[in-house]
Amino acid sequence: MATLQGKKVVVIGGSSGIGYSVAKGALLSLAEHVLIASPTPAKIEAAVARLQTDPELQKVQSDLRNRVAGAVLDLGDTDAVRTFFEKLGDIDHLVITGGNVATQFAFRGEDLGKHRGIGLYKPHSNLTLVLGTIGAIDALTRALAVELAPVRVNIVSPGCVIGTDVWKNISDEAQDKLLSPLLKKIPVKHLGTADELAEAYLFLMKCTYITGQSIQVDGGDRLV
Ligand SMILES: NC(=O)c1ccc[n+]([C@@H]2O[C@H](COP(=O)([O-])OP(=O)(O)OC[C@H]3O[C@@H](n4cnc5c(N)ncnc54)[C@H](OP(=O)(O)O)[C@@H]3O)[C@@H](O)[C@H]2O)c1
Repeated sequence: MATLQGKKVVVIGGSSGIGYSVAKGALLSLAEHVLIASPTPAKIEAAVARLQTDPELQKVQSDLRNRVAGAVLDLGDTDAVRTFFEKLGDIDHLVITGGNVATQFAFRGEDLGKHRGIGLYKPHSNLTLVLGTIGAIDALTRALAVELAPVRVNIVSPGCVIGTDVWKNISDEAQDKLLSPLLKKIPVKHLGTADELAEAYLFLMKCTYITGQSIQVDGGDRLV
């Protein structure tokens, strides 16, 4: 079966959470080189050090110091993004998880209950512009898959993923208010982890016969 042996992988948003798990999963799948990028230099440095010294990775990969690198990059800085890709050279896979849902949606504790179930399939009022933008990413993915062919373009759509830095600034009380009803309701009866999400990205990198697809990794939230 497929591995990522010999592949060069870039993960923008790889300093924590889902992106970090994707970076680690790529190395566990024998990727030749993984570059993680995000805006915060200290977090990038710490994440690179964690990957380079991870005992689980050391069992399957030698020379991790030369296989893992970090770069500072803010996706909001267009000039920096252009320079980053001009200097990057050839790569095999680009994963983008960079962003912060808390600021994107201006969450406040008292609003969390109302925002539960944000998504294309269960829209709430007052979120038209946000959901329109999310929907545009779906359409963009399909269009790019055709325009950039044979480069493959896919999207992963996460449900609720706990334990990542997105939750750092949300109080325990607000998290409980948001997560308890969800936990009772979703078919899989547990909340998602970054490692579970990473599996979808690894599948998309390894399966060379998939393009223009959106994969919902949400524990079945969309169904209930
Ligand atoms: N966790 C969830 O329940 C959930 C649900 C739906 C969607 N998502 C989305 O999934 C993505 C990953 O979330 P996560 O839970 O893994 O969060 P996370 O642990 O906070 O990771 C976010 C990553 O994005 C990076 N980042 C933030 N702003 C960036 C920018 N302007 N340019 C480049 N990188 C940037 C962060 O870097 P720094 O640390 O350097 O800031 C970090 O590496 C986010 O886009 C989030 O909105 C998450």
